[in-house]
Amino acid sequence: MNMEEMVAFTKGKGFFWPSAEIYGGYAGMYDYGHLGALLKRRFENAWVSYFVDGSSDYYLIDGSNVLPERPLVASGHAARFNDTLVGCSKCHTYYRVDVLLAEHGVKSPEVAKPEEFDDLVKKNNVKCPKCKGALLPSKDFNMMIDVNLGPEKTDKGYLRPETAQTTYLNFFREFNALRKSLPMGLALIGRAYRNEISPRQGLYRLRELTQSELQIFFDPDSFKVPFDSLKGTEMNVVPFKTKKQERTTAERMVKEYNIPEFYVYHMALISEFYRKVIGMPEDKIRFLEKGGDEKAFYNRLHMDIEVDVESWGGFREVGGLHYRGDYDLTCHTKGSNQDLAVTVNGKKVIPHVLELSFGVDRNVWMMVDVFYKTDGERKVLGLRPWLAPFSAAVLPLQKDDAIIAEAERIHKALRPHMKTFADQSGSIGRRYARMDEIGTPFCITVDFESVDNGSKNFGTVTIRDRDTKGQERVKIGNLADILVPKARFSA
Ligand code: GLY
Repeated sequence: MNMEEMVAFTKGKGFFWPSAEIYGGYAGMYDYGHLGALLKRRFENAWVSYFVDGSSDYYLIDGSNVLPERPLVASGHAARFNDTLVGCSKCHTYYRVDVLLAEHGVKSPEVAKPEEFDDLVKKNNVKCPKCKGALLPSKDFNMMIDVNLGPEKTDKGYLRPETAQTTYLNFFREFNALRKSLPMGLALIGRAYRNEISPRQGLYRLRELTQSELQIFFDPDSFKVPFDSLKGTEMNVVPFKTKKQERTTAERMVKEYNIPEFYVYHMALISEFYRKVIGMPEDKIRFLEKGGDEKAFYNRLHMDIEVDVESWGGFREVGGLHYRGDYDLTCHTKGSNQDLAVTVNGKKVIPHVLELSFGVDRNVWMMVDVFYKTDGERKVLGLRPWLAPFSAAVLPLQKDDAIIAEAERIHKALRPHMKTFADQSGSIGRRYARMDEIGTPFCITVDFESVDNGSKNFGTVTIRDRDTKGQERVKIGNLADILVPKARFSA
């Protein structure tokens, strides 16, 4: 879908829209409606199921969104979590300078000094897009949102800029509470906050966002992955060295591009997640390697996970695979004066971190865009059944008391197992069409034969499949057994 179609569809059906919309909204903040909240939860559940529950050494934790100042000074965010902004001398509108340059067709380095951006602004005669005023010199701008705490509001804090920090702050306690062994994985799904200068493109750049992040703590001398299982596995990669997309094998990533086996193994895992769990076509997923100054300041190795999304105009980042080395635990050891090194197999080590980071909102947006298809009059949101907001709809064929009563009984019986939707209004064709458009994979239709004890089909209903439009008659008592395994992803 293009951007306009996405906005109209997602608002109109109940997926998401700007927060405080009745007051005109505020850039970079979104609320989820009933379908969006369900879709988001489905993504999160599938993510946990695939990345966390599949391993006996990985666990979910949770934690505070607000952090005191000290940890974020120690982590480097207070000094380095910056974007470069440029303001208009006339109307005082502010822009991210790289975004403004890109809109003028000028590619700027992802990280550069303000003076370098100013040279590009001058050379390309870039003016304020709103009033054509001259631009002021650009300056670094810290993206963290600060808060004042305490009765006199004198204690400075920040809304966390990444969920990862909560996890690092809890590493030591968890290590001791768990098996005191490495690797250990701690995952967290929660909110992060960034005072983006140019929030835009729907859920792409938000000031308040949800991340699902898995931090794998390991000893670099002994971290083993079953790399041999990747023999012949291919992925789409844009290496930093060539900056050209290529299809390459896991073995080649290691040999030619010097990427460690443990890292390539997790690239393959992520690629499989997008193909098998989300259902993305292979050609819509790729890894973009960032090097030099493009890397986040905490990373040794950094790849963006990119997917091809029409409304965003091509491949865009929905997550990242980050080898952060011992950066974070070393920073927090210094900042807190608590030694975060641990002893494993008689050896003292500051664990290294491999971070699998996903922007949940971006993934939600991406799924709607990628899986929405029109075929003439027919509109289908072809989400995998375990990702669909409603797993099934229960539809009485006619407005008949016995049929409606049976439909209500079925709806109630299925409710503990899956999210179902009951719809009695309009023709059955229109109701199927409505369910197709919001992605409901199965429609259960109750008809006269279902409730006629003289019929050979008494006690049965039809299940209509969204994708094939095929119908199958099944016993009402078997519905849960048939549908539950389809409606849940299990690793
Ligand atoms: N934790 C990595 C990120 O926020 O991009």
